[in-house]
Amino acid sequence: MSRKRRLLLESPISSTVAFDIQSRLGSPLFCHMKVYIDGKFLDEKNAKVSVFDHGLLYGDGVFEGIRAYNGRVFKLAEHIERLYWSAKAILLTIPISPAEMTRAVVETCRRNKLRDGYIRLVVTRGVGTLGLNPNRCKRASVIVIADKLQLYPIEYYEKGLDIVTVATTRMLPNSVNPAIKSLNYLNNILAKIEANNAGVEEAIMLNSEGFVAECTGDNIFIVQKGRLMTPPLSAGALYGITRNTVIDCAHELQIPSSEPNLTRYDLFTADECFLTGTGAELIPVVKIDGRIIGNGKPGPVYGRLNQRFRELTQTTGEPIE
Ligand SMILES: Cc1ncc(COP(=O)(O)O)c(C=O)c1O
Repeated sequence: MSRKRRLLLESPISSTVAFDIQSRLGSPLFCHMKVYIDGKFLDEKNAKVSVFDHGLLYGDGVFEGIRAYNGRVFKLAEHIERLYWSAKAILLTIPISPAEMTRAVVETCRRNKLRDGYIRLVVTRGVGTLGLNPNRCKRASVIVIADKLQLYPIEYYEKGLDIVTVATTRMLPNSVNPAIKSLNYLNNILAKIEANNAGVEEAIMLNSEGFVAECTGDNIFIVQKGRLMTPPLSAGALYGITRNTVIDCAHELQIPSSEPNLTRYDLFTADECFLTGTGAELIPVVKIDGRIIGNGKPGPVYGRLNQRFRELTQTTGEPIE
């Protein structure tokens, strides 16, 4: 259920009363969510950043998408580590330590009574001038939002996705390295628009050499004769935390895995394909560029890995309470 809808149903106002959802959301009655900004917990309505913040003006900053399951934040240490790596790569000094960041995330979940949900951690370059020089930004800003997220309708997890390869090429490692989870997602957004235009949910992005890199917000895996494969990070894939978890699960389940360069041909002729990401979790793919993958149904290796992944999400992670 969407947050707006949940809030409306929880409200004491009868649904027979005519009201405008947007204007009601602006009322104090609906300001349940607390957003962490630079050490303060603010009502959603007052959680704002300056128009001079370079995160807004230039996409100058880094972020993380994290999930909480069953009262624990899944793989929190790994997300915090990647956040600081991304910041290091763009020479952004995060004004708080990883331990303080960890506490900020857990406390934001706690104050929002979030046991299962999605956490967005954002670090912007901070307030500067209209020029792009980051030296003018005196202090980076840290934002933590804890909410709900259902990326795809449940039927896609049962039936599988139909996806396409798009013309927008993944950025070169010597431009904005795709390993950096930066606030500048236009490369991915342009690919997503191509997917939307093709009437599908996700897009496969190739690198400039024509090898498969990843999707707009997910890593991609195939299974061929029982062997699990995913593109190497050097192909332009994000150092995905769900990707790493799946590789660990494969090891545990004695499913051989490797990270070779993959072409579209490898995808078309795979027995199985699935995507991984914090938002999407593990989602099967049954059609790529009009080619049916395997028998057109989510495969058994996907099933085993997904089951193990679900077990881990329910039993591991940083406790919220
Ligand atoms: C471009 C891109 N690739 C892959 C992923 C999956 O990474 P993770 O599993 O760490 O969420 C994401 C999502 O964060 C992403 O934005």
